[in-house]
Amino acid sequence: MTIQFNTETFRDDYSFRNSDWAIKRFPFPFHEDSYMYSVNMEQHRGGPAGSVYEKRFDVDEHYVSEMADRAIVLAEDPLRCQSLPHMTLAGWDTLELIMVSKSEDYPDLFELHRDGDRWRWINKPMGIDHTFTFLDETTLPCGPLEYITRQAQGDYAVLDQRGDMLYMDAGMVTTQADWSLDFDIGMDFFEWHAPVPLAHEMGIFKRALKFLLNIQQGAPARRLNWTMTVNPLLDTSPENYHKWGVQKTTLTPENIGAKQHLRVELQTFYRLPRSNALLFPIRCYLIAFQDLVTVPKWGRRLHRVVRDLPEELATYKGFIANRPLMLEYLSRYDDGLPTSPGI
Ligand code: HEM
Repeated sequence: MTIQFNTETFRDDYSFRNSDWAIKRFPFPFHEDSYMYSVNMEQHRGGPAGSVYEKRFDVDEHYVSEMADRAIVLAEDPLRCQSLPHMTLAGWDTLELIMVSKSEDYPDLFELHRDGDRWRWINKPMGIDHTFTFLDETTLPCGPLEYITRQAQGDYAVLDQRGDMLYMDAGMVTTQADWSLDFDIGMDFFEWHAPVPLAHEMGIFKRALKFLLNIQQGAPARRLNWTMTVNPLLDTSPENYHKWGVQKTTLTPENIGAKQHLRVELQTFYRLPRSNALLFPIRCYLIAFQDLVTVPKWGRRLHRVVRDLPEELATYKGFIANRPLMLEYLSRYDDGLPTSPGI
């Protein structure tokens, strides 16, 4: 289908909206009526037509506006994109993977023409037509990672693999759920996960790391993660906490349906060919509670998940103070009927 790109904002007047199509394909993350951390990894081999899993790098109606928001964040804070010197090759790997995937998966929107090392990249939604030399940084306006991730929705962490460990040595992070690339750069897998409650004791990170170290080229994996965001903000970074943290206190019974958003991350994992680095795209999808409850089984289930979520997780995810308000709203959409397993 042809995508109609929205003109919308994720700040100030918050004109972000999901169309009926976007609501229908929202990646609702709960398979049952309760939630606990697990090593919820599966192969990323596509999915039903129209779903967010179908393509390697999903492009939707928010694409152009999300890229405009990223440009604003980068203009204010260039450290949201960093690449340690040994990661340049991984940046080229990332550029190649995204350009090849997008041009194959969305030929009406993106074209890649390769003549040896001379590459011509056409990005129609963003009005870009650029010829450059692959692996020659002087032919791009910025580094390869920054160049391509200014044109691809979601955040990107690029992990170097040394020994049996992953290190966060590069990334583009402007739409994150309250963590900082500038703080985490150079850290290893256990260090950057240190703030997460309960999961370390459950052995989740040891098993997750083992899985990640074994990811092979051409066999990407994926998982979902979720949190809550008041107002459709993409940039919920620690750097800007002073701007968005206070917005959590503005919820009322009258505005919660419009303001409170479930934030779901589709996280994928790709082994890169030349650098052997691991690419970790984190794609953020937002949905207002008032849109979510238009799907009765989602409203019913979200009520139960939020109600029964362990206090440590509700605190870490930052909505413990608003949980009573959320429950008051969501309980209206829970008729007490049993739900079936699956989504
Ligand atoms: C949270 C990065 C893979 C499970 C986080 C955080 C970061 C992160 C930066 C936020 C920590 C903070 O509070 O500062 C990454 C990267 C990965 C990766 C770069 C790829 C190499 C995984 C995998 C799992 C996982 C495979 C599988 C279980 C979690 C969980 C949280 C978390 C459960 C807490 C999220 C929440 O409650 O909202 N991750 N992660 N991560 N990560 Fe990962």
